[in-house]
Amino acid sequence: MTLLKVSDLVVEFQDAATGRINRACNQVSLDIEAGEIVGLVGESGCGKSTLGRAIVGLEHPKSGSIVFDGVDILSLPAAARRQARRRVQYIFQDSLAALEPRQTIGSALHEALIIRGERNPRARAARIGEILAATNLNSGILTRRPRELSGGQRQRVCIARALLAEPKLLICDEPVSSLDTSLRAQVMNVFLNLRDELGVAIVLIAHDLALVRQASARVNVMYLGRIVESGPSGALYAQPLHPYSRALTAAILGIDPEVERHREQTVLKGDLPSPFAPPSGCSFRTRCPDASDRCAAAEPAALVREGRSVRCKLYDETAAVN
Ligand SMILES: Nc1ncnc2c1ncn2[C@@H]1O[C@H](COP(=O)(O)OP(=O)(O)OP(=O)(O)O)[C@@H](O)[C@H]1O
Ligand SMILES: [Mg+2]
Repeated sequence: MTLLKVSDLVVEFQDAATGRINRACNQVSLDIEAGEIVGLVGESGCGKSTLGRAIVGLEHPKSGSIVFDGVDILSLPAAARRQARRRVQYIFQDSLAALEPRQTIGSALHEALIIRGERNPRARAARIGEILAATNLNSGILTRRPRELSGGQRQRVCIARALLAEPKLLICDEPVSSLDTSLRAQVMNVFLNLRDELGVAIVLIAHDLALVRQASARVNVMYLGRIVESGPSGALYAQPLHPYSRALTAAILGIDPEVERHREQTVLKGDLPSPFAPPSGCSFRTRCPDASDRCAAAEPAALVREGRSVRCKLYDETAAVN
C-alpha cells in the first residue's frame, strides 16, 4: 500500500536582497510504501531537508501534491492539514538543538504525551516504558538531561519522542551523520526494529549512499532540487544508471569484488552550480563526464522501467535500463 505519494512538488525560496528564485525542490515525485525504509541522498544543498520539511508542513510548496495515507494534504484548510499530518514525524539532524537543555528526558517524554491528551501519569509511564524498549534505551536516562547523553542516545531519545505520536512515517534528517561508526550501527538497528515491529515507514536522509544502502529498500538520488534516479537499493548500487549516481557509488569503498569490476570510476568534478542560476537543460551537465550538446537543450524526462526511474539523455526510449 502506498503510504506517501509526492507528485511534482515545487518549493522555492526567494533571495530577499536580489529577488532571485532558488527552486530547492523542482518537480519532485516520490512514493513510499507502508512499512518501507527509503533513502534520500545527495550533496549538501541539493534539497533533501527542504523536501522532508515540505512533507511535514515546515515549508510551503508552490505547487504539486502530497498524498499521505489517502489524504491529499495540500488541498485541505490549515487546521485539517495539521490533523492529516499527525502521523508523520520529522527527526532533526541536530539532536542537541531538538531537545530543551534544562529539561530531563523523562519530563520531555511525559510532555509529549500530555500534549497529545494523555492525562493519566501511570498510562504515560507505561507508554514511555514501551517506547524506551523499542528504541533500545534504558529507563536510567529519564532523569538525565540532553547534554548528559551520548549522541547516539540523544538521537534515539528524539526517535522515542517522535514515536509517542504513533507515526506511520518518520522522516529522519541525517540521523547518523554526526555519529561514529559504532553508534551509527546502534541507531540503524533501531530503525530496522521500528520497521519490523511497529511497521513504521522511514525516510533516511543522508549525503552518503553508503549510510542508507543497507537499510533502505529503495534509494532516491537528488541533485540540485531534482530526483535524478530512484530504484531498489541493491540494483541502484550494483548498476547505477545516472552519471551522478555513478559518481556517488564510486566514492564508496567496494565490498563485493564482482560489483567493483563492473563499476566505472566516475569522479565528481567541480562544485554544485548556483541554485539561483542552474545550468540550462540537464542541471548535472556541467559536471557530467557523459555530457553532450543535447544535454543543454532540454531537461531530460524521467524514464521509468522495471521499478527504476532515471532522468538522463543516455537512457532514451529505445535504450534498455538493465
Ligand atoms: N529557509 C531557507 N531560506 C532560503 N533558502 C533556503 C532555506 N532552506 C534551504 N534553502 C536553500 O535551498 C536549497 C536546498 O537546501 P536544503 O537545506 O534542503 O539542502 P540539503 O540537501 O538538506 O543540504 P544539507 O545536506 O547541507 O543539509 C539550498 O540552496 C539552500 O540554500
Ligand atoms: Mg539538510
